[in-house]
Amino acid sequence: MTKRALITGITGQDGFHLAELLKSKNYEIFGVIRGQQNPKKIIVENDLPYVNLIEADLTDTSSLNKAIKDSKPDEVYNLAAISHVGYSFKIPNLVAQVTGVGVLNLLESIRQSGRQEKIRFYQASTSEMFGGLDYNRPGKGYDENALFHPRSPYGAAKLYAHWITKNYRESYGIHASCGILFNHEGPRRGLEFVTRKISNAVARIHLGKQDHIELGNLEPKRDWGFAGDYVEGMWLMLQQEKPDDYVLATGETHSIKDFLELAFKEIGINDWKPYVRQNKAFLRPAEVDILLGNPSKAEKILGWKRKIDFPELVKIMVENDITIEKNKKD
Ligand code: GDD
Repeated sequence: MTKRALITGITGQDGFHLAELLKSKNYEIFGVIRGQQNPKKIIVENDLPYVNLIEADLTDTSSLNKAIKDSKPDEVYNLAAISHVGYSFKIPNLVAQVTGVGVLNLLESIRQSGRQEKIRFYQASTSEMFGGLDYNRPGKGYDENALFHPRSPYGAAKLYAHWITKNYRESYGIHASCGILFNHEGPRRGLEFVTRKISNAVARIHLGKQDHIELGNLEPKRDWGFAGDYVEGMWLMLQQEKPDDYVLATGETHSIKDFLELAFKEIGINDWKPYVRQNKAFLRPAEVDILLGNPSKAEKILGWKRKIDFPELVKIMVENDITIEKNKKD
């Protein structure tokens, strides 16, 4: 029988990759779209024509109730959030409502739908919940048992969402799993995130469209993987008999300088420094200095492993942006 999936955050990078994956598995897919005249709607309609769009908002319970009623999902993937860490310092209350309490709203809609035992739920938890401090397992990386210490309104809201998901699993028996995903990137990443900002700028510098890039702190390290690999892990979590929480990561960490080094090498530039300027506007009130994940549990239980490594990821992103920028007039 064809399975039905409801995806919130369908307009984002992960929504795109997950829809492609579920389509290849013959799912009937429903995507939640929000906002009056959302400019991303047309992109989803073009790129994912097989997705049935439903208008709803994580902060509006009646619209969520309707989304669950109309889609009758077997699986719900909550990928929606205000997800930019730096921006979350500017609108902390809204982030708490959408990224945190919004998840409670969705879980309540599932619980009250009369079909809660038929629905499996995935929550997009994040390595930002660890915060880079309490780096208690040096060399091994954060696993599912590491201490949480969020360093932003975004991280704090995601931690609430993480715990309320676990709470609904324990209290009401909902098949709810949290994927604690470390940074995952790719050609579909938004231009406001550092990897795509760099790959796009490098492409434009290569084509003579700009001569430098302005960035914030170049020292932080991240465990960067490819988003296409990570959605496979999300799906695997919901195929398990028992719900649980899993870290998805590469087990490697690299600095922003490392990313710059490889990205500029793709266009034949060995010294990136003359092309990079610091702009204080991109610094954050509190920084997460280092993230390194330990995906052993997911590898062992789900049989999940990332396929694309760091140099390949940088290459894919730069090549993609060169193609896009070549075809774009500006
Ligand atoms: N965005 C951005 N822009 N970040 C910059 C810049 C810049 O100009 N310059 C330096 N950085 C640094 C940030 O300070 C941060 O240390 C690092 O680059 C990565 O920033 P982002 O790419 O914005 O990602 P993030 O790590 O803060 O958060 C992403 O990953 C999380 C998973 O760990 C987001 O996708 C989150 O939603 C996700 O949960």
